[in-house]
Amino acid sequence: MRALRVLSLVAVVAMSLPAAAAEAPHENGTNCSNCHFGHNAPGGGLTKTAGNFSLCQSCHTTNAPDFGFAWSTSDQAVPGTSGRSHRWDAAATNLGATPPSSTGDAAAQLMAPHMDGANIQCSTCHDQHNASTYKGTLHTSYAVGSAVAATGTGLGRLTLNAPAAASAAKAYRVKIVAGGAAGAATFQLSNDKGTSWFGCSSPGVYTQYTGSNACVTSGTGSVALNDGTNVTVTFSSSTGNFAANDQWDFYVSYPFLRADDTDAAMCVSCHKDRHQSAANVEGTGPLVGNGQAIVLGTTVFSHPVGQSLGNTYDRTVGTNGPILDADGSPQTTGDGIKSNNLTVGATGKVTCLTCHRPHNAYSNSLTPDLP
Ligand code: HEC
Ligand code: HEC
Ligand code: HEC
Ligand code: HEC
Ligand code: HEC
Repeated sequence: MRALRVLSLVAVVAMSLPAAAAEAPHENGTNCSNCHFGHNAPGGGLTKTAGNFSLCQSCHTTNAPDFGFAWSTSDQAVPGTSGRSHRWDAAATNLGATPPSSTGDAAAQLMAPHMDGANIQCSTCHDQHNASTYKGTLHTSYAVGSAVAATGTGLGRLTLNAPAAASAAKAYRVKIVAGGAAGAATFQLSNDKGTSWFGCSSPGVYTQYTGSNACVTSGTGSVALNDGTNVTVTFSSSTGNFAANDQWDFYVSYPFLRADDTDAAMCVSCHKDRHQSAANVEGTGPLVGNGQAIVLGTTVFSHPVGQSLGNTYDRTVGTNGPILDADGSPQTTGDGIKSNNLTVGATGKVTCLTCHRPHNAYSNSLTPDLP
């Protein structure tokens, strides 16, 4: 059984994953060896480190403080007591949750093959290979809008402009070929940390780099990289000229979600018992999530989700002003602290994520979140 699993994994690795199967920032050239050993691997998925969390932590400790890492097991939530992250090692039936199953909803079917036995793990919710399919919150490794100095000797600056919501998950290396002022200096572009390079046949049109087709920087506006106009940068030589071999590495990516989490779809896939409408909480109807009838005195009620604001007792955007921060001040003009924002879902609905954050959460809404 075990041998069969390992064999089939090798077969899948060999056959079905496209060349760049692990997307930025988990991309790793062609051999995938950052996380996998081909043979005699200590970890279950032929991974280098035994235990899913230990594998994730093996890098995410040394990469602190990005995204609020490093995390330790004591960061896992014990409701009412401690912690600031969703648990990643609990039995999937704890706190009334329904384990993802291969006959469940769309999210459950995607999560079910990635359990750690009967427990959840990081890879149940995250597909560490694929950031593009189910996107979630866009992240960049560079602060958007800040002029960044190069790794190199030049004094020119590169600014990453706010990427469009439709951006692909990609790593970028921008490298100066011929130095000079913005508009005169030229550059080449790589999506695989310099293994292969793009030049330009005309501005914004990327083709294989030949040694003589470097792209031209611009001194007057933004330059699109090779994701249409989704990702653009601005070159500036107001602090000095660019020099050959100046280089910037950054990525635009998403948190590798295993399934679509629009309006907290992943959350209610496991937490079916808490997927309740306003009518449910008022005592009527079958429970939205698990279809059972409400039995007063037995059913455990949970704050309604999937409802728009605007019932007689709600604030509505427009009439009563914007939704409030958790400290009571209007959110749009509030304190700028992310953890204090009660955000509604895609269509203005209250979701689990209006009140909860899966990681780096603070139980005190007045303290700032980590990035
Ligand atoms: C960031 C670490 C990481 C990188 C990089 C990585 N993998 Fe994985 N991979 C894992 C983990 C962890 C599992 C097992 C957990 C799971 O997803 O079920 C896994 C599982 C797999 C599986 C089993 C099927 C699946 O999707 O779960 C295949 C096949 C695979 N990896 C291939 C690759 C290939 C090919 C590359 C390089 C292109 C790669 N991996 C890069 C961490 C990684
Ligand atoms: C119960 C599901 C679940 C588990 C388990 C889980 N995550 Fe997450 N994680 C999420 C969701 C949902 C997001 C937020 C997605 C978004 O913002 O669009 C997220 C976001 C992240 C982010 C982006 C930073 C942030 O704070 O938003 C990182 C990094 C991350 N997870 C790593 C991990 C690691 C490592 C583990 C295991 C130690 C883990 N996750 C376990 C669901 C989970
Ligand atoms: C080989 C090193 C390595 C391993 C192992 C690794 N990661 Fe990462 N991961 C990174 C790097 C580098 C980043 C970019 C942010 C940073 O520097 O921490 C990243 C970022 C992420 C992000 C945020 C992506 C975004 O931009 O929103 C998530 C989610 C994530 N990792 C999940 C995992 C999970 C889950 C595992 C374990 C299965 C894991 N990682 C194992 C190197 C690794
Ligand atoms: C793969 C199934 C699964 C998914 C997806 C999932 N949960 Fe959970 N959740 C659980 C389980 C199991 C527990 C019980 C953990 C324990 O023993 O404390 C739990 C516990 C919690 C807790 C209590 C704190 C804790 O970690 O114990 C909160 C709050 C919570 N989940 C919210 C969410 C939100 C919000 C989402 C969507 C981002 C989500 N869950 C997605 C299975 C899941
Ligand atoms: C209106 C805000 C709000 C919404 C919406 C919300 N929660 Fe909560 N949730 C809370 C608060 C506040 C607590 C902590 C209660 C306490 O400390 O006693 C909590 C606690 C929990 C717990 C811990 C165990 C418990 O029952 O105390 C779980 C699990 C949980 N929520 C899951 C979810 C899920 C899943 C959703 C979406 C279906 C959701 N919540 C929607 C505010 C909310």
